Amino acid sequence: MADLSVRIPVGKRELCFKNPIMPAAAGLGDLIEYGKYYDLSRLGALMPNSIMMESGSVSRARKLYGAEYGYITSLGSNSLGVMEFVKKIAVHLPWQESPLILNLKAEDLEGLVKLAGTAAGCREVAGIEINMNCPYSMAATDPRQYWRDYGWLREMIRGVREAAGEKLLIIKVPTTMVDVEDIAAIARECGADGFTSFGALTGCAIDVHSREFRCGNSGSGGYCGPGLKPLALWSCSRVHKAVDIPIFSAGGVTNADDVIEHIMAGAWMVQVGSANLTRPDFMPRLIESLDRRLDELGIRSLDEIRGCVKPH
Ligand SMILES: Cc1cc2nc3c(=O)[nH]c(=O)nc-3n(C[C@H](O)[C@H](O)[C@H](O)COP(=O)(O)O)c2cc1C
Repeated sequence: MADLSVRIPVGKRELCFKNPIMPAAAGLGDLIEYGKYYDLSRLGALMPNSIMMESGSVSRARKLYGAEYGYITSLGSNSLGVMEFVKKIAVHLPWQESPLILNLKAEDLEGLVKLAGTAAGCREVAGIEINMNCPYSMAATDPRQYWRDYGWLREMIRGVREAAGEKLLIIKVPTTMVDVEDIAAIARECGADGFTSFGALTGCAIDVHSREFRCGNSGSGGYCGPGLKPLALWSCSRVHKAVDIPIFSAGGVTNADDVIEHIMAGAWMVQVGSANLTRPDFMPRLIESLDRRLDELGIRSLDEIRGCVKPH
């Protein structure tokens, strides 16, 4: 059996994950509902729906559109607020066996820093991932998004770094095409412990009969699914070559070979989003098949293959 474990340096200590497979933000609902299908402690890490300070209202827009090329998603801010999530759900999760990481979003910098401090102050929470589609509720094209100005970006990351204290801090790229090496380098410079090199991309789909957008209030949503794997691998590989930071890769994972490709491109952890929509027990099955596939390929540990693919 291959050693699937992953150890990520966080300050002067290491955070240990039993395997590299974890849900992507909002890829596994509030997590607790999946406990009916399998033991959640089998996952390398736990990550629920993206979280804000207060509970959000349920969006009336169509939230999900599935097509042959993948999914367009627009869940809106209908998740639980951070303390409600911790008190009602996190306490029932196996957070002592699988590190619980919260993906956070807020409408302004002050709110984001406060939210990071609140989340990091909970003993159940091992780390936070900052959703860079912030300030949240502005369109990805809005010029006031933090990542559009590297001065704002530095201020934002330094603020959440201080608020997160000694907990794991991950910065996740926005849902748009960005200079990923620059953003990863700034994340590292400002004290992030990890970087999520790919999420969804902003996209839309149109119904030719009704002449309406198929998903989301504004017509757009996050495009994710198998078709994104080449872009996701490219993004991971670029960050791996440019910046010395543990990468949380994501995008288009539907089987064990996809996971191995992400790791060979430089990933430490691999997030799974839309494949969970195909069957609720997708991730434990993926972990089993990853184990088998590594054996077949004669690979004994993930450290042996991480980032092994290099251009000639
Ligand atoms: C239903 C659904 C909702 C999502 N909502 C969010 C979100 O609120 N915030 C976020 O950062 N990413 C969100 N994502 C993107 C995932 O976190 C992840 O980056 C992406 O799904 C990975 O690609 P994959 O689906 O191809 O595995 C969502 C994905 C899905 C499937």
